[in-house]
Amino acid sequence: MLLLLASSRPRPLPRAWPRCCEPAATSEPAVRLAALATHPQKVPEHLAVIMDGNSRWARRERRPRRDGHWAGVDALRGLVDTVLSLEHVKVLTVYAMSIENLSRRPPEELAWLFELFEKVVRDETERLSKRGVRLRFVGALDLLPERLRTRLLDAAAEPLAAPQQLTLCVAISYGGREEVARTARAIGTRVAAGELLPEQIDEALVTATMRASEHSVPSDPDLLIRTGGDLRLSNFLLYQCAYTELLCLDCLWPDFCDAHLAEALEEFARRRRNFGGRV
Ligand code: FPP
Repeated sequence: MLLLLASSRPRPLPRAWPRCCEPAATSEPAVRLAALATHPQKVPEHLAVIMDGNSRWARRERRPRRDGHWAGVDALRGLVDTVLSLEHVKVLTVYAMSIENLSRRPPEELAWLFELFEKVVRDETERLSKRGVRLRFVGALDLLPERLRTRLLDAAAEPLAAPQQLTLCVAISYGGREEVARTARAIGTRVAAGELLPEQIDEALVTATMRASEHSVPSDPDLLIRTGGDLRLSNFLLYQCAYTELLCLDCLWPDFCDAHLAEALEEFARRRRNFGGRV
């Protein structure tokens, strides 16, 4: 195990690796993104991403799986930079690890991912703080190794060195059903204590209770992008995605770049959202 951790990043990754799928639109992504930024009402205030496809990327590149996760971190770094330049996105929530991953991935991959998360958070917190990015971690953090949990909580408590521009909310050891169960437990405790009557439990109370938990997402996403080609939620933000626009892309997460983001935001701008009413 020690050997495995010590040799955690054996070969440097190439600066630019082949893209599996270039989006169809031909104009420069930066120009397209700048055009979108002139219509702030059409840019999602809360963007969520299921970053899927790291392992398949590694297989395609004939590299160890851990390189796929490192390449995934690079893609995330790029996304944060671009989102900051867009200004109108206020919350970016990313799915780093599901609660199911904890029991269903091989122990050596988990050890590896924990080490990667710790390193990324250690290396990036100051840089993010200087750019006004507040870090937040949502999920059942108590299931994580103590060292990692402490690192995450310290990073989230770090004061920002610049005015806040963005909340980067990282879902880790996260499960939508677990979050709903945790909320039900909190409400049930209040009922048992005589603070609440069962008939007082409504949607507003459930939402408020969920948001009051420091390990829950700040608001409902406007747009959820899933990479990797699968068409499912995988237990991500089940309650919050009631009226979220969904977009699944075929590209593997490490290939995700500004052109994909432009494609996604253009698609979002075309969607007509009626929240069950009439447009
Ligand atoms: C899915 O790939 C991706 C993950 C399990 C990890 C994603 C995490 C990062 C990109 C790092 C984020 C880090 C921080 C601290 C914010 P997969 O292995 O399920 O890919 P597959 O679908 O090809 O099997």
